[in-house]
Amino acid sequence: MKIGFVVGESKPDVINIQSLKPLAIGEYVIVNSNEGEILCLVGKSIIISDAFNDIKNFQEAEESKDLADGNSRDKSFISNLDVLGFLHDLKKGKMILPSIPPFPGTEVKYALTKDLQTIFAQEEKKWVRIGCLLRNKEIEARINLAKLIPRHLAVLAMTGMGKSNLISLIIKKIADVNGTTIIFDYHDEYSGIELKNINSLEAKINPRHLEFEELAEVFEIPDTWAVQRSVLKKAFTLKVKQSKEFWITLKNNIDEIIKDPDEKENKHAAQRVQEKIDLAQVRFGDILDPDTENPISLIKEGYLNIINTGAFSEKQANISLAFYLREILDDRKKATISKKNNQKISKRFHFNSPVFIIVEEAHVFIPKDDKADAKYWMSKIAREGRKFSIGLGIVSQRPKNIDPNVLSQMGSFAIMRLIQPDDQNQIMNSVESVSRDLINQITSLNVGNAILTGQWVNLPAVVEIDEQKDKIVGSDSDPIQEWEMAHKMKNIGNENTQKIIRHDLVDE
Ligand SMILES: Nc1ncnc2c1ncn2[C@@H]1O[C@H](COP(=O)(O)OP(=O)(O)O)[C@@H](O)[C@H]1O
Ligand SMILES: [Mg+2]
Repeated sequence: MKIGFVVGESKPDVINIQSLKPLAIGEYVIVNSNEGEILCLVGKSIIISDAFNDIKNFQEAEESKDLADGNSRDKSFISNLDVLGFLHDLKKGKMILPSIPPFPGTEVKYALTKDLQTIFAQEEKKWVRIGCLLRNKEIEARINLAKLIPRHLAVLAMTGMGKSNLISLIIKKIADVNGTTIIFDYHDEYSGIELKNINSLEAKINPRHLEFEELAEVFEIPDTWAVQRSVLKKAFTLKVKQSKEFWITLKNNIDEIIKDPDEKENKHAAQRVQEKIDLAQVRFGDILDPDTENPISLIKEGYLNIINTGAFSEKQANISLAFYLREILDDRKKATISKKNNQKISKRFHFNSPVFIIVEEAHVFIPKDDKADAKYWMSKIAREGRKFSIGLGIVSQRPKNIDPNVLSQMGSFAIMRLIQPDDQNQIMNSVESVSRDLINQITSLNVGNAILTGQWVNLPAVVEIDEQKDKIVGSDSDPIQEWEMAHKMKNIGNENTQKIIRHDLVDE
């Protein structure tokens, strides 16, 4: 059935149409060009009324309403279509764009369900369901799980729009095929996820394995304290690194500097360093562990590994993430090279199969114009990970603060509601396959709606992600409910105490 016509100026990749009724963003339509049927996605939809143009006051608006209602020609429904390719080829998995735009006057109709089904609901095992098309709910939206590992993924949206929900869905799909996922859980969001093979770990930092700058960060000695840092550098010797009694040996070295008459000018600084170390031991005693095994040895293949970094400051989380990434990359590199050389895979390697690493709050670890300890390793994995079968999934509510070089290495994207223009601009610069029109529309997406684009889908799609019902902790808590609960608990507490007091009185 005809729903509109091509009008005005069109290009091979963007087509303008006028339709009988307004079209919704994310709807699929067919443009019946001479070259063949072209599948398009509605990227922008505008309604204009002549009668309501240039209205100067309330009265004029009221009068115009009657005029507009009585005139069937008053409104125009204009849409911009993103061209996806010839339908015939898309059904065979090939994306071929027309070389010339369709002529004005070319008819437009809705895409048929059965055609969309063929394109979106791929039957192969690696294609897994994550929701349905937003405007065609009867059609499953599937993603190609195999593309996540070599090509990386970015999930970008404002807080509360469904990033963690999508991540937990992806985690489950990876678990279904016995894959290995490692998630750095900064807000302890994922511990409630319902899965069979879960390995929950508290992130630890082994100070022996750190560079001296990293150690200074962990002790929270600011980089402006040059003298204190040089004292630490002097004291953090190979002997300390190898000593059985790490803390005692380190502190002895600093004590020696304090007592050394030749180091008189550093005495005060050394005392400050000593205080900083004492403080770090008290505050971070649980996470700074010189006797912990190599932390990656605790990560299990074929499991969802949740590494809780909730107890860390941003700096410490950065150092810990950098450490894990460095070790994982190193291990995968050696394993891959050994496999290539046809050596038998020996036990020396921890990971003998691909690994998917998810980093929440990615803007903290790969900031745009800033240094961060993890940034070097995140960038390296983004660039080289595919060679060694390491996939990176970055999740952020502040895309504009993410290093664009890393963002542009991401092969797949899920973009949900984002209202800040800076965030949208950053996405437009990094995501090739989505038109400016479509990105501009992301302000109108609802919770759980996402634009999927890149290698994990055949075509850009606007989808409704399936909701996960298990207890992942969303970033929005409900204070009213929590107060109510706290109040109830207090009352129960009071009642119990009163009962105990009365009981005691009777006893006496
Ligand atoms: N696909 C979805 N369908 C319906 N509701 C959703 C969906 N995704 C998220 N939500 C709701 O929104 C809340 C916040 O989602 P969450 O994934 O924690 O957001 P984010 O990680 O982006 O802050 C969830 O608790 C859930 O109630
Ligand atoms: Mg979240």
